[in-house]
Amino acid sequence: MKQPTRRRIGVGTGVLVGLAITAWLHAPGQAQLRAPGPMNSGHGTVACESCHREAPGTTRQQLQTVVRHWIGRDDKPVDLGFRAVGNAECESCHVRPDDRHPVYRFLEPRFADARAAIHPEQCTSCHREHAGVRVTVADGTYCRQCHGDLSVENDPIDVPHRELVKTQRWDSCLGCHDFHGNHGMKSPTRIDDAIPPAAILTYLRGGASPYPPPIVRARTPEVKTP
Ligand code: HEC
Ligand code: HEC
Ligand code: HEC
Ligand code: HEC
Ligand code: HEC
Repeated sequence: MKQPTRRRIGVGTGVLVGLAITAWLHAPGQAQLRAPGPMNSGHGTVACESCHREAPGTTRQQLQTVVRHWIGRDDKPVDLGFRAVGNAECESCHVRPDDRHPVYRFLEPRFADARAAIHPEQCTSCHREHAGVRVTVADGTYCRQCHGDLSVENDPIDVPHRELVKTQRWDSCLGCHDFHGNHGMKSPTRIDDAIPPAAILTYLRGGASPYPPPIVRARTPEVKTP
């Protein structure tokens, strides 16, 4: 007998919470106050709407979906008021055909373990927004997820990759390779010429870039006219 009551309370609560969030996000003029944390590097002037796009359908339709979801008639994830921020939003400004690690590649079956561990198929896994930094995965240990058996033929570096992997020097990788390959960077061949891990950490946390220019900058997306 308890189950239906609890379920009704659940649905009621769901609707109320949903309404509250919608009203909250739609309140005009309060944008700056509502962000859950400081914007990440470079995003200080990026409009909220460039990432938080309104979910399709009217509020009423969205609420119906929420209710169907809560009573278990619909497995689809619920977008109430705003859509979840996905790669498409990031890629509308960060256009980079030469990305060394393009996210779509990691949808391949062979990356199933890496997906389960770090979700490399989503920009926001490594660039969680509202954290006030540049990159939210703080060290290079996740390189291990995919390069754990790395060994380079005719290895040009003085401490070979095989050795770096064996001694778990995952903090060294970003000192010779940027992740996206978007900087004018030529990998050094001497470990002493690598960018020191401390300078990399400063950069990941939002500080100055230790990587040489040039860099492909974000573009300004076209403003849609209604
Ligand atoms: C560069 C993209 C980006 C911009 C710009 C941005 N956000 Fe966000 N925001 C995110 C991401 C990513 C999340 C995590 C939740 C998600 O994926 O929807 C988030 C979460 C939130 C949340 C928490 C809601 C939730 O679903 O967890 C609020 C509230 C929010 N942002 C408000 C704002 C406001 C207000 C602004 C403008 C000052 C803003 N955001 C600008 C990307 C952005
Ligand atoms: C409306 C355009 C826009 C959107 C959408 C956007 N960005 Fe940006 N982003 C910028 C601009 C402009 C900069 C400033 C640096 C530049 O010009 O490249 C920037 C900077 C950055 C930086 C730091 C770049 C640097 O050189 O240090 C990162 C990391 C970043 N964005 C990731 C993301 C991610 C992840 C998303 C999606 C959640 C996203 N951006 C969505 C416009 C955008
Ligand atoms: C597995 C982690 C990971 C994922 C996923 C990821 N990034 Fe990054 N990103 C990094 C790291 C590490 C850096 C710092 C090293 C560098 O500059 O390449 C970085 C740097 C950046 C920068 C600043 C330097 C540059 O290349 O302009 C931007 C902008 C950026 N990422 C955007 C994105 C976008 C957009 C996506 C999704 C399409 C994304 N990233 C996905 C790890 C990640
Ligand atoms: C989710 C899996 C994944 C992660 C995590 C990952 N990589 Fe990669 N990386 C790849 C794949 C796939 C390639 C392409 C190899 C190929 O085409 O055979 C690659 C290629 C590279 C290359 C060679 C690029 C070229 O153009 O020859 C470098 C350098 C590299 N990765 C460095 C790193 C570093 C440094 C990290 C950690 C910061 C890292 N990778 C994390 C999957 C990954
Ligand atoms: C001292 C600098 C240095 C360090 C540290 C370093 N690399 Fe490299 N790496 C290079 C150079 C040089 C090459 C040769 C290709 C090139 O010029 O990019 C290379 C090549 C690669 C390749 C391409 C392999 C191929 O067969 O084409 C991958 C992948 C890679 N490195 C990943 C890593 C990872 C992961 C780490 C951290 C364990 C790392 N590197 C640490 C300098 C470095």
